Amino acid sequence: MSSLSVFGAQWGDEGKGKIIDLLARDADFVVRYQGGSNAGHTVIVGDEKYVLHLIPSGILHPGKVNVVGNGVALDPLTFMEEVDGLRERGIDVGSSNLRLSSSAHVILDHHRKLDGLAEAWRGGGRIGTTGRGIGPCYADKASRTGLRVADLLEPERCRERLSAALLEKNALIERVHESDPFELEEQFEKYVAVGERLRPFVCDTGALLRDAHKEGKSLLFEGAQGAMLDIDHGTYPYVTSSNTGANGIPSGSGFPARKVDRVVGIAKSYCTRVGEGAFPSEDGGEGGQELGRVGHEFGATTGRPRRCGWFDSVAVRYALDLNGADGWIMTKLDILDSFETIRVGTSYKIDGEESSVWPVGCTDLSKIEVQYEELPGWQEDITAVRRYEDLPQATRSYVEWVEERVGAPILMLSVGPERDQVIPRGL
Ligand code: IMP
Repeated sequence: MSSLSVFGAQWGDEGKGKIIDLLARDADFVVRYQGGSNAGHTVIVGDEKYVLHLIPSGILHPGKVNVVGNGVALDPLTFMEEVDGLRERGIDVGSSNLRLSSSAHVILDHHRKLDGLAEAWRGGGRIGTTGRGIGPCYADKASRTGLRVADLLEPERCRERLSAALLEKNALIERVHESDPFELEEQFEKYVAVGERLRPFVCDTGALLRDAHKEGKSLLFEGAQGAMLDIDHGTYPYVTSSNTGANGIPSGSGFPARKVDRVVGIAKSYCTRVGEGAFPSEDGGEGGQELGRVGHEFGATTGRPRRCGWFDSVAVRYALDLNGADGWIMTKLDILDSFETIRVGTSYKIDGEESSVWPVGCTDLSKIEVQYEELPGWQEDITAVRRYEDLPQATRSYVEWVEERVGAPILMLSVGPERDQVIPRGL
């Protein structure tokens, strides 16, 4: 396959980091096309643990070109910190293996500050953002008041754009939020300086990808967050501010939609969510606590404990369908090893009416009553299994049953955090 899209099919944290790291072996280019440092992909290589927020996980493989596309909300300070951190750990990072779009919008100090202030302002209606300035940055992009990477490389233009932005943002910060404004000169110096550090990585990444594809190179598009957090198709307003699925690729990378050959979703064998908003199959009781404990469900970016619940086949089917997925990967199957019974959400009841379709247009998703079926657990350690036929019968029954409910083939199973702890099934 010369171009493959891999995206989260739940509310993020599906274990994408490890899968993308694995698939990166066969790719020439690994591409981020949306989101920003709100993402946190954890990759474990031997005794080393890497948490990458902005740089694609292909960076851990020599010889891959990692691309941060135009659709990414780029925090240049985090980007450079990540570059420095990887270099300190002996990973080679340079313009030959890391490219950054000149058109990516930049997260500035005021975006981060306004993210926090807006959350406080919302009070009980807060979204539970990661506080990384993502929403305010994308809002400025849509308002056409943002700064792009290219702007940081031209001091005069940077001063002009920054001065116009701060005029508005400082008024908002001071008069509405009654907080301290930013000083133009200080911000200008800081961002022009970091712009200089970005310069070697900057190019027209869209052209780079299109040319690479024409030359027969293989491309892996790495989605951040999950389809249910998509700004258009997710649980709005409790979403992130980008198109998180395969559907975000063309606008977020400059790579044409019809050239994406294969689309694969990723979903855990159960489900989690961080932040506020609807989570129909959440289990606030012992089951959820156990899933969180065994699955180490703490945010990679914020460290917050994740809300836990059961696999929801309605939501996953919607996410896969929406993004035209050819199939999906079930991760963290081993987390269910100790459970006597496993619940799976199979349909919804809303105001007494049963449905197996995600209720787009329903403004009160808390009305969803998930209808569950229970399956017997296998209560065996499956972390050492590498071939599908070696899994316990009860595990295979569970996998095949879920696969049928979702209606799309499971192409791989993940049974542990290490790179090699996977069971191929067609990918
Ligand atoms: P934001 O993206 O920081 O604006 O946060 C908006 C919502 O998306 C919040 O509920 C966050 O918890 C959630 N979110 C953002 N990034 C991630 C992620 O990488 N994994 C899971 N949830 C995320």
